[in-house]
Amino acid sequence: MNNMLKVQAPAKLNLTLDVLGKRPDGYHNLRMVMQSVSLSDSITLSTDAAPGIHVSTNLSYLPNNENNLAAKAASAFFLYAGIDNISLDIRIDKRIPVCAGTAGGSSDAAAVLRGLNQLYSTGYPADILERIGETVGSDVPYCVKGGTVLAEGKGEILTTLSPLPDCWFVLCKPGFSISTPDLFHSIDGFRLRHHPDTDGMIKALNTGNLREVSLRMYNVFEDVLPKGRADVIQEIKDSMLDGGALGSCMTGTGSTVYGLFTSQEKAEQTAQILKDRYRDTFLTQNIPCII
Ligand code: C5P
Repeated sequence: MNNMLKVQAPAKLNLTLDVLGKRPDGYHNLRMVMQSVSLSDSITLSTDAAPGIHVSTNLSYLPNNENNLAAKAASAFFLYAGIDNISLDIRIDKRIPVCAGTAGGSSDAAAVLRGLNQLYSTGYPADILERIGETVGSDVPYCVKGGTVLAEGKGEILTTLSPLPDCWFVLCKPGFSISTPDLFHSIDGFRLRHHPDTDGMIKALNTGNLREVSLRMYNVFEDVLPKGRADVIQEIKDSMLDGGALGSCMTGTGSTVYGLFTSQEKAEQTAQILKDRYRDTFLTQNIPCII
């Protein structure tokens, strides 16, 4: 058995996000088209460690204990596999912005599942890793494979879609985070008047038409943002469109906004302009599914 492995944990974007209603378990039924991008965290797993599960990161404010989703994923994996006498170091080098609607923590957790499956030669297929991931967080099942996917239910019912044609994404997170539970709470008391055309998005992906995809990018959470926040999100979207994006949208519960570009040059220029105002600005590209 190798005792060390490095895995990549890519960020996700929501091409669409619809909230269908609240469930008896307090969660919400969702319908959303997800896309992985190359902006990634790096996870290094090492079994050459003291007994237990230990997490370290390059960001001092992140939990480095059992509350980190990566540690929760490792615990869930070992429980499922019936492995005890655990000695594991998880090193997380974060590049994906934190609490940003880009599934950074969920992707780290999914990468731990993929990595441990390799390190321990357990040979679980992706759907088993997805079921283990479901116990850790709603976005973790999607992050196990990534790519272009329709996610339904809490986020765990996954259908692979036609891959998004190659394009450029500029990601920009303004200097505030938005609480996911708070935004779900806001949406409960709100009658949504607009919903994304998710079926139209799936058709646009089938035909590989980026203009049609961009026309259908829509996130219902933008409609329930607190006023001051909504203005900033709109201003960033306007900057993306001014810079030549085919479309722009907030991802997840925010606060990251992305713009979709077909021109690398325009994407680079827009990223440069936004970076002067917002430190957490990134230029990235879509990637296909990982496994
Ligand atoms: O599953 P996860 O821990 O990532 O979810 C974080 C929070 O997001 C939940 O506590 C819940 O408030 C909200 N959520 C929801 N419905 C979903 C997914 C998340 O209400 N389908």
